[in-house]
Amino acid sequence: MILKASAPGKVILFGEHFVVYGKKAILASIDKRVTVTSEKNEENTISVKSNLGQLTESNTVLIEEINSPLKPFFYIAKSMIDQFKFKGGINIVINSEIPSGIGLGSSSACCVAGAASISNLFTKLSREEIIDLAIKAEQTIFKDTSGADCTVCTHGGIIEYEKNAGFKKINSKNNFILIIINSGQTHSTNLTVSKVKNFKEKNEEQFLTLCEKEELLIENIKQALEKNDLTAIGKSMIENQKYLEEIGVSNDKLREMLVSVENSSYGAKITGAGEGGCIIALTDDSNLEKTMNYLRSKNYECFSVKIDSKGLDTF
Ligand code: MEV
Repeated sequence: MILKASAPGKVILFGEHFVVYGKKAILASIDKRVTVTSEKNEENTISVKSNLGQLTESNTVLIEEINSPLKPFFYIAKSMIDQFKFKGGINIVINSEIPSGIGLGSSSACCVAGAASISNLFTKLSREEIIDLAIKAEQTIFKDTSGADCTVCTHGGIIEYEKNAGFKKINSKNNFILIIINSGQTHSTNLTVSKVKNFKEKNEEQFLTLCEKEELLIENIKQALEKNDLTAIGKSMIENQKYLEEIGVSNDKLREMLVSVENSSYGAKITGAGEGGCIIALTDDSNLEKTMNYLRSKNYECFSVKIDSKGLDTF
């Protein structure tokens, strides 16, 4: 039996980094997906194939011994094999439309689609159980994850997320289009989160003030999101960017990209960990073309995305 699952990538509209410290964040899933296909084998091996490479290990391998970005898939496969005392192995194939290492949730979408596809070979898990398994898998490569990315990749749409309180859907009749502009600098979320931790330890008071500002901004923006008030959303994105600048996750290239969209879009900011990766610019039909044309004339790598409302899909 071959089982497939797909999950969308994501953008963080507001609150990255602060969410790691228990503050709220607002995230949206995007219309770019990862599809994972799984099948049992009789060879007692776990084999993972993706555009990041291919790795085959015995089904008795110890997770701690795997040193590869594909480690989360081995974690999921091993948990199922051990839980169901399965003697065979699993072949896993990943197809992704989401570029990796640039803050668009490719790793979380892989963990969510992987958790759903692999677990479906053995049992039927609820969405909450899939999120739980996906977060544990992601922790094998990024131990401090807030869990926000896996949650939005599973449920889809726009969500408000808080580490200790879970998520709430934001009902938005959104008609906005986000332009993703790639700096071409890949980043390590793990390292950038550690850097912010350092900043927090050295600047406790400043960090606390920024957390309070971020909380207030998020409380005030929910209504604008529900009403699709792009001017207000754009302004808050610009405000949120100031907090990200303060905690040190921006750089010259990202600032240069932000300037290039400041006149034509409603607002723009880093999305995800920062220190490279992407910025997002908020547009709609009235200013999409103009913004894209300008970015292309400056040779920026950019593409537009809409919000995905489906989340995890199994088939
Ligand atoms: C990464 O997409 C977002 C961060 O806030 C980390 C996390 O929430 O796990 C930087």
